[in-house]
Amino acid sequence: MALPLPYSRWAHTFGRLLFPDPRRTGFELAMTEAARHGGGAYLEFGVHRGVSLLLAQQAAARAGLTSMRCVVFDSFEGLPNAETATFWRGRFAFSEQRFLRWFERAGGDLSQVEVVAGWFSDTLTPEHATSLNLGRIAVAHIDCDLYESSLEVLRWFEPLVGKGTVLILDDWHAYDGAGAPSDHGIQRALAESALRDRLEVLDDSPGLPRIVLVRA
Ligand SMILES: C[S@@+](CC[C@H](N)C(=O)[O-])C[C@H]1O[C@@H](n2cnc3c(N)ncnc32)[C@H](O)[C@@H]1O
Repeated sequence: MALPLPYSRWAHTFGRLLFPDPRRTGFELAMTEAARHGGGAYLEFGVHRGVSLLLAQQAAARAGLTSMRCVVFDSFEGLPNAETATFWRGRFAFSEQRFLRWFERAGGDLSQVEVVAGWFSDTLTPEHATSLNLGRIAVAHIDCDLYESSLEVLRWFEPLVGKGTVLILDDWHAYDGAGAPSDHGIQRALAESALRDRLEVLDDSPGLPRIVLVRA
């Protein structure tokens, strides 16, 4: 059950004071780097309720990237299939309406946000890339947990990213306890992507998203 507006915003603010999101520094680094390269759009693959989108907007504002266009993709039905005991079909299901409500109540700016709802297999098409007319991509945040989903994302935007685009690979360490993390999730997907040889690592703190820069 959603809390009435003043209480939910208060609960969020209070929670943030008690437990600041450890990814905040990575978003600040990404947005500072994005500003250095001239800005552009922010893409997020796997937005869920919008916690990381909020971090992105706050970091963008601090880096001087006001009015940053944010295009966010999600099924809003959770994960499509299970890969491990941690990630199962339907995990993170959170409807688009709930996302819009939660994000606004938490202080996000919806006027800058475009939502692309649906499975990546349906929404990440070449036609959609053209109609979205993304222009320069400043930052792309990939946070969809599964190898198959991450590979769909990478394949779609491989031709769209250029020199100076920053990638936030949220789940880089999600499989650290799984024996060979490189056999899973984003690590496995990136190894199969043409982008893998074009990246410079900006930050790889243990347990946190890996932040990388597209070199050329
Ligand atoms: C961990 S949540 C994202 C959390 C969010 N970025 C944050 O930090 O607040 C992962 C999201 O990826 C989405 N997702 C994963 N695979 C997908 C796919 N193939 N198509 C559409 N959405 C997908 C799920 O619906 C889920 O909301």
